[in-house]
Amino acid sequence: MKLNTLCLLTLALSSLEPTSAYPGLAQALTNLPTLPKRQTVTLLADLQTLPDTALSPAGLTIKNILLHNRAATSPQDLTTVYTPPGPLDSAACRASTCCVWKHVADTMAAAFLNPSTSHCNSLARQAVRLGFHDAGTWSQSGGSGGGGGADGSIILAPAELERTENRGFVDGIAPQMRAWYDSWHDAYGVGMADLVQMGATVASAACPLGPRVRAFVGRNDSAVAAPEGRLPPPESRDAEALVALFADKTIGVRELVALVGAHTASRQRFVDEVLSGLPQDSTPGVWDAVFYNETASEDPPLGVFRLPSDQALSRYPATQESWKVFADSVGGQTVWNDDYAAAYVRLSVLGVEHINDLTECTGVLPLHSA
Ligand code: HEM
Repeated sequence: MKLNTLCLLTLALSSLEPTSAYPGLAQALTNLPTLPKRQTVTLLADLQTLPDTALSPAGLTIKNILLHNRAATSPQDLTTVYTPPGPLDSAACRASTCCVWKHVADTMAAAFLNPSTSHCNSLARQAVRLGFHDAGTWSQSGGSGGGGGADGSIILAPAELERTENRGFVDGIAPQMRAWYDSWHDAYGVGMADLVQMGATVASAACPLGPRVRAFVGRNDSAVAAPEGRLPPPESRDAEALVALFADKTIGVRELVALVGAHTASRQRFVDEVLSGLPQDSTPGVWDAVFYNETASEDPPLGVFRLPSDQALSRYPATQESWKVFADSVGGQTVWNDDYAAAYVRLSVLGVEHINDLTECTGVLPLHSA
């Protein structure tokens, strides 16, 4: 049962999974069109081989999320709050892994919100995209040691940051991540790989209606540029090719559709430079499911620029059903936030070899805002 180094566990999961861990989800599901089944559930790295008895709390949580074992583990945590045991420089704070991350997350959350509207801003949007562009450079066909993944190389390796697909980061989130790294790396051991992924999870939680994706720290950094050609070209419009590209990252169609929903908060700059700054839905500061409706609509609102890749995915038979579910005006948001969170946890550990050694710090994230 091996594909490269990965153990593929193929489960015929029911389309309606246990929902007891999800307040509101059961009701939302009853109102929705049928969710497409997940066909493949792939474990990653050390979670492929470690028995459950050897799993750390974070390892077990991530394993359950990767296996879509939602009865046991929710990919979001809407309530846990981490309280620092003391000031940043105190011995108590230094002894608690999440303590410095509370300071990091609070600083990020303040930087990601427009104070006058409480909507998320361009730095938040870029932080979400940066998290994807760092982790998404991993592929299973690259094999073990094939490079890429959530290792911070997007900032630490200048050759990677300067690639065409990473345009836009250089004058925005990249110098900000560098500054945060300089503040917290030497003195408190904060790594770039974790900083980039924490940025993406703080940003989605900070955006109104956004998911509070469970957050983990303890990844290794790398200053080696990730292999090229593993991220979708900005002008992509071939849904079949996109599905194959993400499948090679162990991300299935339903997860892909959930993840591109991040374009709810997006403003394109380089796909059409004449129309630079146009949003991908009519509410770019809010993490709402309006994006799915407006992308699929025959009659989109004026001033909305739909990415060719999103339009293609909204029409492609294999992805269309998930698109419709997330677009549903009654329960779509709840189901999408949950699916996004599960898919993002997977994305955030791609290429991490020692997942069982991570520590969960979800409690440092801003609380979900309505
Ligand atoms: C099918 C795969 C994808 C394609 C083809 C794609 C393509 C694009 C393009 C062309 C832009 C506009 C860039 C610009 O002109 O400035 C963009 C922006 C963005 N993308 Fe994606 N993307 C994909 C998947 C994802 C995923 C998986 C995420 C995160 C989970 C993501 C998050 C974002 C965000 C937040 C922005 C807004 C950046 C900003 O406003 O500064 N994208 N994407």
